[in-house]
Amino acid sequence: MNMITLGIEGTAHTLGIGIVDSNAKVLANVLDMYKPVNGGLHPREAANHHGNVVSQLIERAVRDANITLNDVDVVSFSMGPGLGPCLRVAATAARSLSLLLDKPIIGVNHCVAHIEIGRATTGCDDPVLLYVSGGNTQVIAFFNKRYRVFGETLDIGIGNMFDKLGRELGLGYYAGPTIEKLARDGKNLLELPYSVKGMDVSFSGIMTAALNLWKKGYSLEDIAFSVQEVCFGMLVEASERAMAHIDKNEILLGGGVAQNMRLREMVQKMVEERGARAYIPEKNLCVDNGAMIAWLGNLMYSSGVRMSIEDTMTSQKFRTDEVSVTWR
Ligand code: FE2
Repeated sequence: MNMITLGIEGTAHTLGIGIVDSNAKVLANVLDMYKPVNGGLHPREAANHHGNVVSQLIERAVRDANITLNDVDVVSFSMGPGLGPCLRVAATAARSLSLLLDKPIIGVNHCVAHIEIGRATTGCDDPVLLYVSGGNTQVIAFFNKRYRVFGETLDIGIGNMFDKLGRELGLGYYAGPTIEKLARDGKNLLELPYSVKGMDVSFSGIMTAALNLWKKGYSLEDIAFSVQEVCFGMLVEASERAMAHIDKNEILLGGGVAQNMRLREMVQKMVEERGARAYIPEKNLCVDNGAMIAWLGNLMYSSGVRMSIEDTMTSQKFRTDEVSVTWR
């Protein structure tokens, strides 16, 4: 039976609504990203944004999919990990919709959703996921019947580091694209602390060192170039180690920072040297989005998972390996 699942994403800055069918065909995928007026991402303000846009986004998604709400068979949403106030908006919307339509509800893990939409849409089968976003930086793979985190940041997510650095350097918020642009004109690799421990990485020392270089008068271009080379070098090393350790020959990129062309280039070079392959979902399925939440909801429901409203408590620290993988 072809089942239609509506997914609600709201773990961080993005509120997204996606609608997919049982063949992972994306019928709709709309999103709206909260942009701070000044300063950083404030969880409560982001949550207010999500509350303001969620109803109209649901309407838009249903219209895009050319269905009515009554055609929805399952409602899913991201239960975590993420920012508490944001998670609660997505959860409340999903519970209301589920009760209103009298359709089942499935809460899903956001990180696992990044992997599954990649597996469904890029052609990879059993990849190591390099998940790089604002709040998350992890190397994840399927091993011993679960998705396990093989490496992760020991302090802040790479996207958050770019944003914080960008703010200090006056580059505006969501500074990743600006840093990427500046880096293209950088020529000198400045010294920054390269920090990989096993398959874990850390970024906060790099940020402090980069700010010191700026105070000493080094150019923004050289700083941006060096930050990218060092951070991405670390991520590629950690990913490659994970691939070798568990013997996988596919790497999947996910998260907003996966849009960075220099990171893609470095990952590509690594896989070519290993005789492996790299996969990148199309942009709207790579960033935080509702379609991936809908797709994982579909997989879980189809494999027999059932949840009551009481089972849908959000979890800010929802770990990837807590998920029982019933669909593989
Ligand atoms: Fe994400």
